[in-house]
Amino acid sequence: MSGLTLATISHAFAGRRVLDTVSLVIRPGELVALVGPSGSGKSTLAAIAGGVLKPDRGRIMRRYARHGMVFQQARLLPWADARDNIGFPLQLAGMGAERIAARVQAAAEAVALRPDDLSKRPDALSGGMRARVAIARALVVEPDFLVFDEPFAALDPALRRRMQDLVLSLSGARGFGGLFITHDLFEAARLAHRIAVLDRQGRGITGSLTPPGAPGTRSEATIFGFVEKTRDDPLLRDLVNVDERALPLEGACDISGFRRCC
Ligand SMILES: Nc1ncnc2c1ncn2[C@@H]1O[C@H](COP(=O)(O)OP(=O)(O)OP(=O)(O)O)[C@@H](O)[C@H]1O
Ligand SMILES: [Mg+2]
Repeated sequence: MSGLTLATISHAFAGRRVLDTVSLVIRPGELVALVGPSGSGKSTLAAIAGGVLKPDRGRIMRRYARHGMVFQQARLLPWADARDNIGFPLQLAGMGAERIAARVQAAAEAVALRPDDLSKRPDALSGGMRARVAIARALVVEPDFLVFDEPFAALDPALRRRMQDLVLSLSGARGFGGLFITHDLFEAARLAHRIAVLDRQGRGITGSLTPPGAPGTRSEATIFGFVEKTRDDPLLRDLVNVDERALPLEGACDISGFRRCC
């Protein structure tokens, strides 16, 4: 059983505070979905959880052997084909070619990539295929904890559902925990033990919602009913009511001045 503690994490980019004393405990075996408005700092927190960004302040306690990380952008090596992209973490770890090939094949099958897709470089893959290569690269290390940042956003509904089932079966079978970022409340309600809500300005977790039952056992009706009920929850007010058209855009110009300034 794996878990993670993020304690009083603060981080600023170029002097601008993005996360302010954010604490989140993911108990052993718990899948936590993190939701929050765009720009609230979810990806920054995921990068910190995944160890690719060192926070200015705070402590991270990891209770797992290896995590698998999926970034919001696929972040594939542009010069390497899908096969080598998936196997890259194993190559870095010095694993032998034969074992890498077997692991890559299993991970590619799990995300429904066809053998002929594996010889394509990222620029010859569709957006959904690139996303699946990134998911396979996370799974190939046989993780016992997941840090997934909107991993399924580029997938069509059928594939998205298939990938959700994959996460459910892996976490169910191996009992590992994870931090799963999504904008989709149905996805959160399907996958997570608990849905944590990040404050719109990264000033902590404002609260959590717990869908009934355990992930993997919830019926579609239960998930739908839960999401409908949360629509009026004040905790999710910022999530459902933020209209990005009303937000000031840096350097935005009025359409009437388009010719002059753009
Ligand atoms: N490398 C960086 N350099 C400077 N600012 C950054 C960097 N990464 C993120 N930010 C800023 O930090 C803030 C939070 O960004 P972040 O990507 O964590 O938000 P998010 O909640 O994941 O948003 P979204 O839902 O749109 O993915 C934004 O204002 C963003 O511009
Ligand atoms: Mg993000």
